[in-house]
Amino acid sequence: MLEVSRVTVRLGGRPVLAEVSLDVAPGAFVGVIGPNGAGKSTLARAVAGLVVHDGEILVADRRRDECGARAWARLVAYVPQRPVLPGGMTVTDYVLLGRSAHHPYLGAETARDRRVAAGVLERLDLGGFARRTLAELSGGESQRVVLARALVQEAPVLVMDEPTTSLDLGHSQRVLALTDELRRERALSVLCTLHDLTLAGQHADRLVVLRAGAAIAEGTPAEVLTEALVATVFDADVEILAGRDGPIVVPRLRPASSRHTTPSPAADATRSVAR
Ligand SMILES: Nc1ncnc2c1ncn2[C@@H]1O[C@H](COP(=O)(O)OP(=O)(O)O)[C@@H](O)[C@H]1O
Ligand SMILES: [Mg+2]
Repeated sequence: MLEVSRVTVRLGGRPVLAEVSLDVAPGAFVGVIGPNGAGKSTLARAVAGLVVHDGEILVADRRRDECGARAWARLVAYVPQRPVLPGGMTVTDYVLLGRSAHHPYLGAETARDRRVAAGVLERLDLGGFARRTLAELSGGESQRVVLARALVQEAPVLVMDEPTTSLDLGHSQRVLALTDELRRERALSVLCTLHDLTLAGQHADRLVVLRAGAAIAEGTPAEVLTEALVATVFDADVEILAGRDGPIVVPRLRPASSRHTTPSPAADATRSVAR
């Protein structure tokens, strides 16, 4: 459904993604993991059609550069890591914006649009928020509203950039369970960056590991989530337990004296942000 072939992105004169390739089959969930600054958000933005790139991105055999923005929005729905929200807008009106790619004219929403929006709000536990303005939501509520807007697009590909970062445990589980249901119901293809390696392993069929803009490993969660890989890629000391639903990645307590490398200032900064 989604084919990314040798995608390269340069930002500020620097390569941020280098020849990244991956495929997401209909109904599949591909997780993208990697340390801060690895290029995960840039990859998500490229697939959403928001970043100029070399290489090829195809959805349902259509190329981004041969599609207009509206046609691409019918193929790819995108949930950014840090959305900018118009604070004065109501939740319902904002979510209905996700339907605009289906209209010939802006603002001409139909009864079906309203039904789809109400259904998605309900499934994201946001039914009671429909009339609130966006300024009146918590961080986690806003994140679910942005996901709602993406889901009402009813595109065959959903790109999510760290969708669970500001969600509590219950809402994280529900959001990912909902995407799993949509994969079964309508063969939704999901490309999702995730910080939490255990969650990534539970939901992804395959994981792609990005480091410094390159895809350095790819495989099933059991193949990818090893103590050695996490140590190399994240400079993290973890224990991997065999869980019922996939590998469980647990950080080991790491006293300052046990550091075996001399950290550079850059590595130190990464570590403090990545914690
Ligand atoms: N507009 C930009 N100009 C220059 N560099 C950027 C820009 N946006 C992001 N970067 C850099 O690109 C790299 C990858 O960023 P990003 O894709 O956000 O990483 P991740 O999501 O994996 O943390 C980082 O080093 C970041 O500083
Ligand atoms: Mg990011």
